[in-house]
Amino acid sequence: DEATLQEQFDATIAADRRIEPRDWMPEGYRKTLVRQVAQHAHSEIIGMQPEGDWLLAAPSLRRKAVLLAKVQDEAGHGLYLYSAAETLGADRADLTDKLIEGRQKYSSIFNYPTPAYADVGVIGWLVDGAAICNQVPLCRSSYGPYARAMIRVCKEESFHQRQGYELLMTMMRGTDEQRAMVQDAVDRWWWPSLMMFGPPDDESPNTAQSMAWGIKRHTNDELRQRFVDMTVPQAQALGVTLPDPDLAWDESSGHWRFGAIDWAEFARVLAGDGPKNAERIARRRAARDDNAWVVEAATAYARKHERGAA
Ligand code: ACO
Repeated sequence: DEATLQEQFDATIAADRRIEPRDWMPEGYRKTLVRQVAQHAHSEIIGMQPEGDWLLAAPSLRRKAVLLAKVQDEAGHGLYLYSAAETLGADRADLTDKLIEGRQKYSSIFNYPTPAYADVGVIGWLVDGAAICNQVPLCRSSYGPYARAMIRVCKEESFHQRQGYELLMTMMRGTDEQRAMVQDAVDRWWWPSLMMFGPPDDESPNTAQSMAWGIKRHTNDELRQRFVDMTVPQAQALGVTLPDPDLAWDESSGHWRFGAIDWAEFARVLAGDGPKNAERIARRRAARDDNAWVVEAATAYARKHERGAA
């Protein structure tokens, strides 16, 4: 009965073992996972757009090949994650519709523009760096398919982070104009990168339950602090200034202290009012609608073969 199943589930979580698709799970656990995994998948897919804008304008064949590989990796991450959501009973087409209709979220970070080529480097360094901080602990998430997907995703994100940092290093060794371009991009992306980790712990409705279920392993503020501590020395090595006058080393705690985040801006972006929200969704909608015939043709072909095999 349900009480026994719940006991088995609790024991699996307590022993830090994985829940697999065929296992019984509480409805709240399933719902929370679908919400987080779908939001994560949507972020990977929408996240192709800001950098995808530079594919036709990358300054050399080498840079173009690297960027193309990176953007394709993001598509792959989206596909693994939609597959993980499907193991929970979700339907991929339905998730896409929910994204387009604004009923499911995607990461706030992808609603900011990429006006300069240095943005490609800064996204790799800061945005993918933040993604790694957030996602490495998810390799130990209690839901098996999600945790396993994260292993490969994190390996690829590490490559993305390094390519971004290497790009910025190259630009910093270039002209004054290039250095100014990097600094300007850092100034625009720093605060939104800190917002990626989600609201502060005391305003995060989902963290406590998600941690009790072993879906999340750390709180939003813990991971944000880890990211700042990791990134400040990298900024120093790069020779850029992080746009926060309150950033200071705190000897007693062994952490970098940072200034107040503009949570009103975060709320605006989540509500759909960021600089690029409308454009990102319009493009995703057009991709779904313009390519519907491909899906229909592939589905018809698969049906025909199923009948043939029967
Ligand atoms: N952008 C958009 N929405 C956000 C963000 C963000 N940066 N941070 C939090 N939210 C949303 C949450 O989804 C939640 O809304 P919902 O209940 O409608 O889903 C609400 O704000 C409150 O936040 P929390 O209670 O803290 O939510 P949660 O426990 O899910 O934590 C977090 C948010 C940390 C983003 C978590 O979902 C997570 O770790 N997700 C997996 C990683 C991920 O999605 N990364 C995507 C960006 S990285 C990349 O793709 C390169």
